[in-house]
Formats: sequence, structure tokens, C-alpha cells
Amino acid sequence: MKIKVRRASPQDVSAIAALVASYAKSGDLLPRSRQEIASSLVSWVVAVRGEAVQACGSLVHYTPMLSEIRSLAVAEDAKRNGLGMVVGQALIEEARGRGVHTLFALTRTTGFFQKLGFEISLEQRFPEKVWRDCRLCPIQDRCDEVAVVMNLNQPVIH
Ligand SMILES: CC(C)(COP(=O)(O)OP(=O)(O)OC[C@H]1O[C@@H](n2cnc3c(N)ncnc32)[C@H](O)[C@@H]1OP(=O)(O)O)[C@@H](O)C(=O)NCCC(=O)NCCS
Repeated sequence: MKIKVRRASPQDVSAIAALVASYAKSGDLLPRSRQEIASSLVSWVVAVRGEAVQACGSLVHYTPMLSEIRSLAVAEDAKRNGLGMVVGQALIEEARGRGVHTLFALTRTTGFFQKLGFEISLEQRFPEKVWRDCRLCPIQDRCDEVAVVMNLNQPVIH
């Protein structure tokens, strides 16, 4: 059955919550509550096979210019089939369409993000993120995540 990538709908909330939770246990993703997902659906993209959510991802907007790719996840049995790539690309296009200049992520899967076109950066470049999430994180002193960044909509200089 063909995979379809689309914006998330209210029917997807439970499946998204379960997918994110499956990676939150290992610390690969931050937990997201059902309420949080439901109230930010416009920022979520899913890849579905029939009705089944196989992958998801979201944008978190800090300022009109700065956004984060958050909760990008592919079901364990669907990994390494390009789904992470298509959801990641859909989020990049969504951010570009919104006029975002700088898109970043914090991740343990640096190689995957580099394949998407991100470059390695420094967490300190994103004080908004550090202030909002990292300072509350129980393992902030031994964080093993790497900041990655992509610049979008760069102004053209004539
Ligand atoms: C990271 C993740 C989203 C990748 O999804 P995926 O569907 O397996 O990845 P894709 O098949 O689209 O892979 C795209 C490319 O990235 C590479 N890649 C995938 N996972 C990788 C990893 N963990 N480390 C390094 N490279 C990786 C693939 O080899 C592929 O490259 P290729 O085209 O040269 O073969 C998935 O492993 C996942 O859900 N991980 C747990 C959650 C997580 O860590 N999310 C990221 C933080 S937001």
C-alpha cells in the first residue's frame, strides 16, 4: 500500500502520542502529551500507510524566524525506508513556506539530519531552546544531543 505524507488530523493524535512515547522512554525524543499534540496539530506532519501512522514530525515555532524540528519519529518496523527523509523534507518545506529563516533540531541521529541537509551547530546558538526546554531537563549536565541547523529563505543580495 502506498505511503501518503499529509498534515496530521485529530484522528491521528493517539497514534502520534504512542509513536513519540515509544522513543521518549529511551530519551531519543522529549515526551509530548496528547493534549499538547492535539493543540498543535497544524504543526504536525504524518506519513500513513492506509490509516496507520508510520512516521510523524512537528515544527515548534520560537519566533517568526526561528523554528525547531521536534518529535520526528518513524515506527521501529518501518525504519530505513526513507520515511524519516520524506517527513523531514515536508517539515522543511512547511517551515520555508512560513518564512522561517533558521530551522534547527537537537538530536542523537546527527547523520540522518546531515542527509537532510542540516549542518552541525552549537546548542548555545539557540538560547530560546535552552531556556524553554534544556534548563528543565534532568540530564542537562550530561546531554548527548547535538544541535543541527539549516538556513532557509536566505535573503538574496543583488
Ligand atoms: C532518525 C529517524 C527519524 C530516521 O528515520 P528513517 O526513516 O529510518 O530514515 P531514512 O530511511 O529516511 O534515512 C535517510 C538517510 O539517513 C540515514 N540514517 C537513518 N537513520 C540514521 C541514523 N540513526 N544515523 C545515521 N544515519 C541515519 C539513512 O541511512 C539514509 O541515508 P541513505 O539515503 O544514504 O541510505 C528514525 O531512526 C527514528 O525515528 N529515530 C528515533 C527518533 C529520533 O531520534 N528522531 C530524531 C530526533 S527529532
